[in-house]
Amino acid sequence: MEKWILGNWKMHGRSEQISDFLLKLAKNDAFKSSQKPVIGVAFPAPYLAAAMPTMRELGLRLGAQNVSDFAEDGAFTGEISAAMLRDVGCDWTLIGHSERRQNAKECGKSLAKKMRAAYDADLTPVLCVGESLDDRKSGKMFDCVRAQLQEVAKVCATRAELEWVIAYEPVWAIGTGLAASLGEVEEMLRFIKQAAAESLEGLNRTSGCVNIRALYGGSVKPENAADLLNLKGLDGLLVGGASLKPEDFSAICFALLSKKS
Ligand code: PGA
Repeated sequence: MEKWILGNWKMHGRSEQISDFLLKLAKNDAFKSSQKPVIGVAFPAPYLAAAMPTMRELGLRLGAQNVSDFAEDGAFTGEISAAMLRDVGCDWTLIGHSERRQNAKECGKSLAKKMRAAYDADLTPVLCVGESLDDRKSGKMFDCVRAQLQEVAKVCATRAELEWVIAYEPVWAIGTGLAASLGEVEEMLRFIKQAAAESLEGLNRTSGCVNIRALYGGSVKPENAADLLNLKGLDGLLVGGASLKPEDFSAICFALLSKKS
């Protein structure tokens, strides 16, 4: 399976920083190759439309960090629908990032509605799952991640053919500089693929029709990207802090580009 590298800028950046980032990427010949793998960046919502033309030129996939769980237009002040994100050129959106689960109390039904809205608008949802440090310490990480998958499995089971993209982001590894060990990542990605397939089968859906893609995120940086990309069962990386720096983000993408050649 072709690997993906996705950046998540969170609530960082202004017009100038984003232009500068894109300019630096544009100067890099590797980003001009038509052979390059899937590379995407999710800028904050106000900057998506302006970033779109350069992202397209560079063959990069524009992403959003969040989407409304209201699918239809209406009196929903402050909401941004999946159709609107698609309209300004987004290809994908994060769903249920742990910071949103924590800060905006996102969970269960709302996440399932967001997944459905994204699929319906032809926007690839990237579902973020991951356990807290307490859950890991008490050995509950698999139960926690299974429950997060089951919350949205019904939505995935109703699609004829789709890719279910799941980003494993242990909460304790996000923004801490301390990535999960290679063994921990490999073990959890294997579990995620199995648990996702089982939850679809439990809904009478043959998991064979669904392509399950598992990414890892949490303190990914140029120093650990190559080792992570060599892991069995890893189909991509979700990069937070390091995606803000064009040099670091390019280095992570190069780890993948040089692996391919
Ligand atoms: P980080 O963030 O790479 O800064 O740890 C990852 C994420 O939250 O997606």
